[in-house]
Amino acid sequence: MITELLIYLLVVIIIYHIFEYMKIQFHYDKCGIRYKPGVPIFGNTFSSIFGRRHFIDDLDAVYKAFPNDKYVGFFDGMKPILLIRDPELMKMITIKDFNHFVNRKPFFPKEIEPLLGSSVLSLEGDEWRKMRSRLTVAFSAAKMKGMWPSMRAVSDQVMEYLKDHQSEDIEVADLMRRYNTDVIANAGMGLQVNSLKDRTNEFFMAGQQAISFTIWRKIYYFLTIQFPIIAKLMQFLGLQLLPPAGTVFFRKIVSDSIAYRKKNNIIRHDFINILTEISEDWTLDEITGQIYFAFLASYESSTSTLSLCIHELALNPDIEEKLYQEVRSHQERAGELTFEDLPELKYLDCVLSEISRKWSAAVIMDRVCSSGYVLPPPREGGKEYEVKVGDTIYNVVNPLHLDPNYFSDPEVFDPTRFSEGNKQNIKSFTYMPFGMGPRNCLGMRFAIIKMKVLLYHLVLNYKIVRCEKTVEPIRLQPLDFSIRAVGNTYVRFKARAE
Ligand code: HEM
Repeated sequence: MITELLIYLLVVIIIYHIFEYMKIQFHYDKCGIRYKPGVPIFGNTFSSIFGRRHFIDDLDAVYKAFPNDKYVGFFDGMKPILLIRDPELMKMITIKDFNHFVNRKPFFPKEIEPLLGSSVLSLEGDEWRKMRSRLTVAFSAAKMKGMWPSMRAVSDQVMEYLKDHQSEDIEVADLMRRYNTDVIANAGMGLQVNSLKDRTNEFFMAGQQAISFTIWRKIYYFLTIQFPIIAKLMQFLGLQLLPPAGTVFFRKIVSDSIAYRKKNNIIRHDFINILTEISEDWTLDEITGQIYFAFLASYESSTSTLSLCIHELALNPDIEEKLYQEVRSHQERAGELTFEDLPELKYLDCVLSEISRKWSAAVIMDRVCSSGYVLPPPREGGKEYEVKVGDTIYNVVNPLHLDPNYFSDPEVFDPTRFSEGNKQNIKSFTYMPFGMGPRNCLGMRFAIIKMKVLLYHLVLNYKIVRCEKTVEPIRLQPLDFSIRAVGNTYVRFKARAE
């Protein structure tokens, strides 16, 4: 009897969703918006949900299908989304008419992720405005300079570790994740962590747990985003999206650290210090939420960017050599790298910019409409379209970075696209690895500095070489939110002669 009831319920739910799906298609047809029909319930994301390709490839397929349209319809699962293809329109949405699109779609629903739900990434409207304007101070150039010695010290830890591992095939994402964890622990929270020596330290393990998206957790995430009622039910049952151990760990570490510093009158140049200075009226969860998110942002996006950069350098020895010549000549001329020297390293900047183009961790800039907005017709002869309050749009990033109309031979890794002479030819709003407008990446400066410090010392001290496990060409691993190479990134690091 119960089985029959469940089957009946399932059939009703499926029919209901197919009906809803057809309703959306009918709406798009009526408004003259083009779309690819996709698969009912799973939409245009069927292939990425079932691990057949990366989400970026799902986006790219729809982006490429309608080359003459400024925007098209996209089904993220059951959710109808407007996919913005046109750079001019993106500029309007993310900057000029930002007040209509202040919020992004809930990434971590507060009901099931209280800490991350209160981070600046997730906050909305005036709450976001207040938080963002206060946090901006924490990422100023002056504050970054204060963190420089810690970043340098952590990069030295990596150089030290590699000395004893030159004959090994190194799994680069693991190495980079340990580097990024230690930077946020040392520079961000004043903790002395060396994840390369103490391989199972609590800090590193908390991050590992938080990002391990098992297939069940992915389904859980998919359901909570598609059906907000499920998030409410999970809240009622006391369930979280990420393992609660991470939340418990971060709450404890932040509160202990604040109490210890207060008692002993300690001032450090790190995020905890800056946040306690600017946040007298915040709850502990509000402070912890910002730090936990900074930790996760550091952990994943910087890890994937650095790993793919090292992968590309191993596949392109001529580019690695050119970079080596630049850092070596800097070292011969100026000695130790200082914070002030970074802008001099032009080719290093080109390499990092090109990685951020070809393998951007950004994917989309999502925005939710907060007050009605009329878009120009999607194509010549089409009709205007009214975006309603609550509608979600995706400004695509990676498909533009890989569009031959904007970047010739987009599959080729060519840092000279970003040389002084060439970068002015890049059309505005076709290159956006850190997003755009008032809601762009708050940690951009921090991320770029720590990536440059590491790359500088790595290339100066080691030659990055292929090993048997190095995969070529690089393709993206499906079934993953982050940007990671199929077969992972493996290389060897050979010490350069003294
Ligand atoms: C390579 C590393 C990174 C990349 C590629 C990256 C990229 C991005 C992108 C594309 C966005 C969305 C921008 C938009 O919607 O316009 C974003 C938002 C954000 N990122 Fe990053 N990020 C990186 C590292 C970091 C780090 C290390 C931190 C913190 C320490 C950080 C903090 C943030 C915050 C707080 C937001 C939300 C800003 C807001 O909503 O006001 N990011 N990031």
